[in-house]
Amino acid sequence: MTDPLDPGSDLAVYVHWPYCARICPYCDFNVVRDRGRIQEQAGLARAILADMEAQAKQVGPRRLASIFLGGGTPSLMAPEAVAEVIASAHRLFPTDRPVEVTLEANPTDAEAGRYAALAQAGVNRLSLGVQSFDDEALRFLGRDHSADEARRAIGLAAKAFARLSIDLIYARPGQTVADWTAELDAALDLGFEHVSPYQLTIEAETAFGRALRRGRLIPPDEDRAAELYEATQARLQAAGFEAYEVSNHARGPQARSTHNIHVWRGGDYLGLGPGAHGRLTLEGVRTATFAHRRIADYVAGVEAGTPWAEVEALDGRGAAEEALLLGLRTLEGAAGRHLTTLGLSAERGPLADLIEEGFVTLSSGRLVATARGRPLLDAVLGRLLT
Ligand SMILES: C[S@@+](CC[C@H](N)C(=O)[O-])C[C@H]1O[C@@H](n2cnc3c(N)ncnc32)[C@H](O)[C@@H]1O
Ligand code: SF4
Repeated sequence: MTDPLDPGSDLAVYVHWPYCARICPYCDFNVVRDRGRIQEQAGLARAILADMEAQAKQVGPRRLASIFLGGGTPSLMAPEAVAEVIASAHRLFPTDRPVEVTLEANPTDAEAGRYAALAQAGVNRLSLGVQSFDDEALRFLGRDHSADEARRAIGLAAKAFARLSIDLIYARPGQTVADWTAELDAALDLGFEHVSPYQLTIEAETAFGRALRRGRLIPPDEDRAAELYEATQARLQAAGFEAYEVSNHARGPQARSTHNIHVWRGGDYLGLGPGAHGRLTLEGVRTATFAHRRIADYVAGVEAGTPWAEVEALDGRGAAEEALLLGLRTLEGAAGRHLTTLGLSAERGPLADLIEEGFVTLSSGRLVATARGRPLLDAVLGRLLT
């Protein structure tokens, strides 16, 4: 592990690549079907590079903390474009430390064939969207790969990249704790250092959201979902994975994602690409940026010097609320100074009650959610922030 990053001066770079081979029925990320429009994609890559140059001028000299290419499906991005993004970030934000460069990838055979070129381009950590090791579940999730393909992709990724994380989706309709633990157990020896198990969220504006409204999809009830969460934590812990955030488990501290930690600690990051969010300190003010969501609007916006659809200066309270929202999801918690900004006291009121009830603790000046509080964070935050 390198020295801890300084969230004040180090700057991370997030790039959103919106294209996907097909759109999964649960996904409400800012995505579009990849129709092979090479010119459009090349134009977007150029706009992302120009946006990075322009934002670098705004933020002034900074040191590169990490790069994260997310999506959408950035494993469909031309490796040359990926290399240019990485090289530009290093040129604009020089650092003498090793930089974690993560790219999200889908585990189809076709994409696995590109891993070596992506590693050559400078990616050193792959985040692979496996979702499930059960073929029936993969069909239900609308995925265009099989469990065998995912296992092959893991093998190839482990050879091509120094570091590998996988995403899984659980709490699927009808899933039992026994099914899920068997699925997890069978995966644990495949050689990844990091895993992000997400509970299936049914988003209103998706095919699953419509199916739910028509009564064609019945998600697990709260009790089952809680059992599945507990089983996930227990199995992963027994296998040597530490939950350093609610949905992020790492096999040892060196396997934690530097990029995620930087963001959760409230570090600055550029948001590049359609719909990307950023957090920048501009003239001493913490500022949230939201890029135009439509590809054409974003490209035109970059050309006109206005890539952002919205910019919001966060006041002290807004920044402190965000710090709590992110920090309480993590093992290290949120810095105690935010409590003062929010007018929260450990002696009386909602914070004192939550400590008393065992949902959070204050230790070494940090507020941390307990194992009991972590699965109930929405309720905990609701009590702290209203
Ligand atoms: C930006 S997405 C995808 C990366 C890549 N395109 C893929 O599908 O593998 C990041 C992760 O979010 C998770 N995800 C997306 N929508 C979700 C939902 N509705 N419920 C739970 N997890 C979700 C998936 O595990 C996915 O791998
Ligand atoms: S889950 Fe991944 S592949 Fe599926 S639509 Fe969302 S971003 Fe695209």
